[in-house]
Amino acid sequence: MIYSRSIPFVLFALFGTGLTQSVNGFNFNKPTGGPPGSYFAAGSSIPVTALQSAAATASTAVPDGTYPINRENGAQEVTIHSDWANFNQGAAYVWIADMDVDCDGIDYMCKEDADGLNQTNFGALAAYEVPFFVIPDRFGTQYAKQLPGNNIGAVICDGKMFYGVYGDSNGATPQVIGEASWLMARTCFPNDNLNGNNGHGDADVTYIIFTGNNSVLPSSALNTSYVTNFSILRSMGDRLVTSLAQNLGLVNGGSSSSIATTTAGSSPTGGF
Ligand SMILES: *[C@@H]1O[C@H](CO)[C@@H](O)[C@H](O)[C@H]1NC(C)=O
Ligand SMILES: *[C@@H]1O[C@H](CO)[C@@H](O)[C@H](O)[C@H]1NC(C)=O
Ligand SMILES: *[C@@H]1O[C@H](CO)[C@@H](O)[C@H](O)[C@H]1NC(C)=O
Ligand SMILES: *[C@@H]1O[C@H](CO)[C@@H](O)[C@H](O)[C@H]1NC(C)=O
Repeated sequence: MIYSRSIPFVLFALFGTGLTQSVNGFNFNKPTGGPPGSYFAAGSSIPVTALQSAAATASTAVPDGTYPINRENGAQEVTIHSDWANFNQGAAYVWIADMDVDCDGIDYMCKEDADGLNQTNFGALAAYEVPFFVIPDRFGTQYAKQLPGNNIGAVICDGKMFYGVYGDSNGATPQVIGEASWLMARTCFPNDNLNGNNGHGDADVTYIIFTGNNSVLPSSALNTSYVTNFSILRSMGDRLVTSLAQNLGLVNGGSSSSIATTTAGSSPTGGF
């Protein structure tokens, strides 16, 4: 799979301009001083609205893949779908849920997070610096082969798309779906003052998690606590989402040979 793993670098060679965001993660590890959303936003060529609509029509339920969005009695339940899980490139699971705030990892003392853990599943991530999302632990365990950890995902929130990694799982009783890091949640909903005890309650956030080793953010871009190179996260995210959108007929193309001619690697939306 050397060829596939090299695609993001090829894309960068072709399209990379002055967009490189390699960072010292420590400098961004602050509640209100995290990386700007433009560092992990989808490129302007990505058909975000069409993908969101397509996600809403997914109908093949993952066995045992239905979870409540919170722990209250009678909570709304959400089902993970596998309609997109068998594509050659851009294969993904998808669901639509709310967004609770997770601070597990080195920022577990974040505001109002009473039950934070100092580790995440694959390290001790910095929730202020890393845009990560959380999946139910049972799902992660059942599909560990497809989801080895640090898989890239695309989150569509409030009309915008951001890339993150599968960094943690929820092991509450019952296990709950719809959760993302402090950084991801507060970037999605910047006006809502979200914190460890105040999430985005409406189940209107689309989560697309890419499967397989080719979707794992490499150690050149992520260490145990920090994203160290957001350019790699963005270019891989754009490539995966573009492949998915091609498979769904939402953009032109559809064969791997066309990947390099798409605008995947294009400028992120928003300023710096
Ligand atoms: C991870 O990278 C950051 C720089 O972004 C560095 O400060 C930190 O020491 C690294 N951590 C590990 C465990 O390598
Ligand atoms: C993390 O939490 C565990 C369990 O509470 C504790 O044993 C461990 O010492 C903590 N590690 C760090 C680095 O704080
Ligand atoms: C994914 O990578 C892991 C670790 O390198 C390896 O054990 C596994 O076989 C790989 N899976 C596939 C499907 O290639
Ligand atoms: C970050 O990744 C980009 C794209 O692969 C690369 O061009 C750049 O050299 C990387 N930066 C560092 C400091 O490794």
